[in-house]
Amino acid sequence: MGDVVSNESLANLLREERRFAPPAELAANANVTAEAYERAKADRLGFWAEQARRLTWATEPNETLDWSNPPFAKWFADGKLNVAYNCVDRHVENGLGDRVALHFEGEPGDTRSLTYADLQREVSQAAHALTELGVQTGDRVAIYMPMIPETVVAMLACARIGAPHSVVFGGFSADALATRIKDADARVVITSDGGYRRGKPSALKPAVDEALTRPGTEDVRSVLVVRRTGQDMEWHEGRDVWWHEIVDRQPEQHTPEAFDAEHPLFILYTSGTTGKPKGILHTTGGYLTQISYTHHAVFDLKPESDVYWCTADVGWVTGHSYIVYGPLSNGATEVLYEGTPDTPHQGRWWEIVQKYGVSILYTAPTAIRACMKWGDDIPAKFDLSSLRILGSVGEPINPEAWVWYRKHIGGDRTPVVDTWWQTETGGMMITPLPGVTTTKPGSAQIPLPGISATVVDDEANEVPNGAGGYLVLTEPWPSMLRTIWGDDQRYLDTYWARFENRYFAGDGAKKDDDGDIWLLGRVDDVMLVSGHNISTTEVESALVSHPKVAEAAVVGATDPQTTQAICAFVILRGGAAEDEGLVEELRAHVAKQLGPIAKPKRILPVAELPKTRSGKIMRRLLRDVAENRALGDVTTLTDSSVMELIQSKLPSAPSED
Ligand code: WT7
Repeated sequence: MGDVVSNESLANLLREERRFAPPAELAANANVTAEAYERAKADRLGFWAEQARRLTWATEPNETLDWSNPPFAKWFADGKLNVAYNCVDRHVENGLGDRVALHFEGEPGDTRSLTYADLQREVSQAAHALTELGVQTGDRVAIYMPMIPETVVAMLACARIGAPHSVVFGGFSADALATRIKDADARVVITSDGGYRRGKPSALKPAVDEALTRPGTEDVRSVLVVRRTGQDMEWHEGRDVWWHEIVDRQPEQHTPEAFDAEHPLFILYTSGTTGKPKGILHTTGGYLTQISYTHHAVFDLKPESDVYWCTADVGWVTGHSYIVYGPLSNGATEVLYEGTPDTPHQGRWWEIVQKYGVSILYTAPTAIRACMKWGDDIPAKFDLSSLRILGSVGEPINPEAWVWYRKHIGGDRTPVVDTWWQTETGGMMITPLPGVTTTKPGSAQIPLPGISATVVDDEANEVPNGAGGYLVLTEPWPSMLRTIWGDDQRYLDTYWARFENRYFAGDGAKKDDDGDIWLLGRVDDVMLVSGHNISTTEVESALVSHPKVAEAAVVGATDPQTTQAICAFVILRGGAAEDEGLVEELRAHVAKQLGPIAKPKRILPVAELPKTRSGKIMRRLLRDVAENRALGDVTTLTDSSVMELIQSKLPSAPSED
């Protein structure tokens, strides 16, 4: 990493001097100002101890960090608290029982608003129901649900009784579910008959039935089933229980018990491109402190007036931290939407923003690029003037998409915060602050107050400004993973072995001349071309900066002359004709932007790109195509026909220089 080509390209991205200062009014009233960086720098642990006081503790902690056995951290270890109490009850006690917590919007158009008082009642009843089903403190509960209010209620009910949840994304197969149930040794599964997706009911319960036939899942005693779609399904007497039958008859009051700050809160499996999924373990006090603080700071949340919406699925860490625990601990009013952005029409999201007056929107680059592809005229039909802050997460956002997002969704007024973090970090780590930072499209910029990150070379030396390398985190942080469930050694090997005393994130990154951080994708995604390291993200950004390209995915394919050859798959914008001339034009465009070494050897226009269900491009499959190999495992693809389509276009000979 860190070679000439990449630096030239960075200069190119910055060339247009696109900088956006915070709006004056926002800066003047911001929850967090520049002073927070100074304070945290002077006393990092004192800073976090202060943030922990955002929460209501049953026993206030005296200790902040115990790092006596690195990398196994303990935060606020002598404190005790209840997460559900912090997310629900305390707001009701503060007189906010009538404030809407969730505006639920079902895909078919059914709606339901739950106040904090409603949530308190439902969470209490669900907690009693779990106890009746024999769930005890420490028992694991698997949750396999669509995006409906009961999912949030189920997670909070688990937290309330100290039963760590393991949410498995509803799009995963029975096999994936079985592996996760088995690894966590779950005792109860909470599911629903199904949910609505793309205009029709989509079943979930049959996958649970199938998963529970697999060896290793025998410890599951009960399956709690929410009725959502009314679909037919098998019913296992003695094991299956209707949610409405057991939950609705429970007492409406429930006394929350206080748990140790290091009590496990949840396990969440990362998709991982290879091998067995890793069960990332998060605990209670440190996690909630950082999630609550970052949600308050990065979105400048004003709970009495803002309407917040995070479009992620609750099955990913973004949903855990920034749909459930962050916003609710802060007493926010938020939107929960069940379905897809283009059902029944491509303006559905913007219709929802208009309907609820959404003021803070948090979404992913892949969704932004899909909206760009559908056309500017679609969001233009809706009143989006309530929006005041836009967030992005999940992958590097290319500057074109960033600028489009600000202009066409944010009306050229809203700050865009590009937030870098991971399932493992639990919460946001590197991001601008909307009232402080002058933003640069495409860069996550600086570590949050209290967070220490830098970029190092192969030998663990910090690189100077203007150079690239590996992103590392140099100090423990409150919402860090505590281990991989049941596998401390793998925790050490995966994150702490590459660089001594530093957490290796697995991402390539670069510092610009101001020291701001630019994320370059997973290090496995860096290509080696004739001795130069070139990041797939940079070539993709260059391609998408061409007016005819909506989306691009780039891989390095083995090449006898150059070690790897750059191979690009592009989705054209509506109306662009796909011909040899265009391919040449795009190759020339990349060469001009990044230098001749980065010119793709092949460019293939395609209709769709293979993505995981969380929106990450499966470069592994594109590499298989580019190297004319049989495809590897396609089970985590959203739509497996995509690969057939791409392969059918292939035979054309690679273009030569
Ligand atoms: C990986 C973590 C964070 C919640 C959703 C994904 C990539 C994430 C950004 C960003 C550049 C980003 C990284 C990271 N990533 N956000 N703003 N800029 N890259 O969680 O599935 O654990 O993935 O997503 O590569 O390591 P995850």
